Amino acid sequence: MKYFSKVGEAEIKLAAKNLKLGNLVVFPTETVYGLGADAENEKALINVYKVKNRPLKDPLIVHIKSLDKLEYWADEIPEYVYSLVNNFWPGPLTLILKKNSKINNIVSGGSEMIAIRCPDNSIAIQLLSQFEKLGGNGIAAPSANMFSQVSPTDSNAVIDELGNRLGLNDFILDGGNCPIGIESTILQCATNGTRVVRPGKITESEISFFIRNLSSNLGSNELVPGSFRKHYSPRTKIKIVLPEEVPNGKWVLALECCKFNSNIKRLDTPKSLEEFAHSLYRNLRKADKIGLDTLYVVAPDASGIGIAITDRLRKAMGR
Ligand code: TXA
Ligand code: MG
Repeated sequence: MKYFSKVGEAEIKLAAKNLKLGNLVVFPTETVYGLGADAENEKALINVYKVKNRPLKDPLIVHIKSLDKLEYWADEIPEYVYSLVNNFWPGPLTLILKKNSKINNIVSGGSEMIAIRCPDNSIAIQLLSQFEKLGGNGIAAPSANMFSQVSPTDSNAVIDELGNRLGLNDFILDGGNCPIGIESTILQCATNGTRVVRPGKITESEISFFIRNLSSNLGSNELVPGSFRKHYSPRTKIKIVLPEEVPNGKWVLALECCKFNSNIKRLDTPKSLEEFAHSLYRNLRKADKIGLDTLYVVAPDASGIGIAITDRLRKAMGR
């Protein structure tokens, strides 16, 4: 594996060339790091599933540079999608649309639907741009972690997760800390309804401004394709509690404004919901490194990105 700590034009060109040759490139996005492969190279795609130890039926998100490529990958695109894309791309919104029939099933895990997003990160955009110059149409990229583990938000976490699983000609491009820190919002745009299947920084209420019939999946028990109950899981057990429920002597993760007695150890003191999200996965990794048995977490308010934080905490708890 080749690791680049300083990423300029030369490194990006080399990485794009290697992607086109069928190798893998880990790159930063505004949400988390992605493990990228040419979305049209069957061997490279299978390798992504293998490296992550991810089931072949769990589909990958195709990353594109701009709206221009949307119709290459998707078909029967509803009109409202164009308003969403004009408003939120590049940015942390993934759309699940009907797959264009010419596209190979491997990237979509056998599904007739395909997930597409346009990342808002300069390294990712330059990589996509160089890749397009070489004839590429999109980069398939799941989060760069082992299946069901915590997504990496910095290159050290990538190396911890995949360092010894990548091949000699695979790349890691370091782009520092991912600002948002949790994965993109996923919006399923089906003929029978549109709904958020994974909450993220872009909230349901922001999206609903552009769509008349947005149905909510929050609170529903139905599993959407590719959604597994236990996900984003550290080794440390996560318990969501109220501030007064944290036992003495234990570790807690809570907003700075929550007050505790001095026997309780604070893992971190995020000052806002955004900071909570930004540092959430780093903190879960930190809990594992310290070797905590249980981390007590006071979930923040269910507003804005707080909804996505609670979603990831629930999944980290395995329920
Ligand atoms: O922020 C993100 O979205 C990051 C960065 C790297 O872009 N990517 C990411 O990918 O989180 P991944 O593979 O870790 O999570 C994508 C989720 C999976 O749960 C997958 O099952 C679901 O999206 N998904 C992808 N394509 C789908 C499809 N066609 N139908 C239903 N679910 C799909
Ligand atoms: Mg993932």
